[in-house]
Amino acid sequence: MKVIRAKDSCEAGAFAAELIAAQVKQKPVCVLGLATGSTPLDTYAQLIAAYRAGELDFSCVRSVNLDEYVGLGPDHDQSYAWFMWHNLFERINIDPHNTHIPDGITANPDAECQRYDALIASLGGVDLQLLGIGPNAHIGFNEPGDAFIPETHVVELTDSTISANARFFASVDQVPRQAITMGIRAILQARKVVLIATGTGKAKAVCDAFWGPVTPMVPASILQLHPDFTLVADDDALSLTPSSN
Ligand code: GLP
Repeated sequence: MKVIRAKDSCEAGAFAAELIAAQVKQKPVCVLGLATGSTPLDTYAQLIAAYRAGELDFSCVRSVNLDEYVGLGPDHDQSYAWFMWHNLFERINIDPHNTHIPDGITANPDAECQRYDALIASLGGVDLQLLGIGPNAHIGFNEPGDAFIPETHVVELTDSTISANARFFASVDQVPRQAITMGIRAILQARKVVLIATGTGKAKAVCDAFWGPVTPMVPASILQLHPDFTLVADDDALSLTPSSN
């Protein structure tokens, strides 16, 4: 595991954007695994700026997103499809046909999960997977549990995740209770993994995940086993790690 320490979320976003930019320049026909949430917004802003400056070309890039809420379609302003379109895709020259997100309003979620894994395989897997981390150390929506789940699957969101994400909805009752998430296998098979963590709210999750034992109760801890994993974290997110004490 490599750790890149940033002074704040803006600098963390810039560091993560540099890693993604290097990937796109090195292999223009690459597959980027993308994440939602507040954390990657600085990264996406930097990528948009690099595109506008003529430094980056996304025309051949393919993307696969980690997850989507069950019940929310792309027209819902809290769907991850909406998030990606407005915060990245419409502002760069990626071909919308090359962007992929699980279908949250499918009539058959189990079939959608199988389709999504087949799609990732047909693209040749992920070259660089970007991740955030939940306060409970989830990645995508792989929630703490008794086992790591390899496949894309429908997940019952934990109370902790529902409360953490309620800030984006009018009330906690409106937060979907289920999501479709890429499983641990596709994440671990990505050739590079970059996880961004910022803020004191992520400090315990970061400490548990990367300075504690590998356990499905701390889903991000599995990344300790990845051969090319980079943690990009700011001082606040690293404030509970042994090296900070
Ligand atoms: C969400 C997403 C995750 C994200 C995490 C953290 O629920 N499913 O992919 O990493 O929670 O979100 P934020 O960056 O807003 O803290």
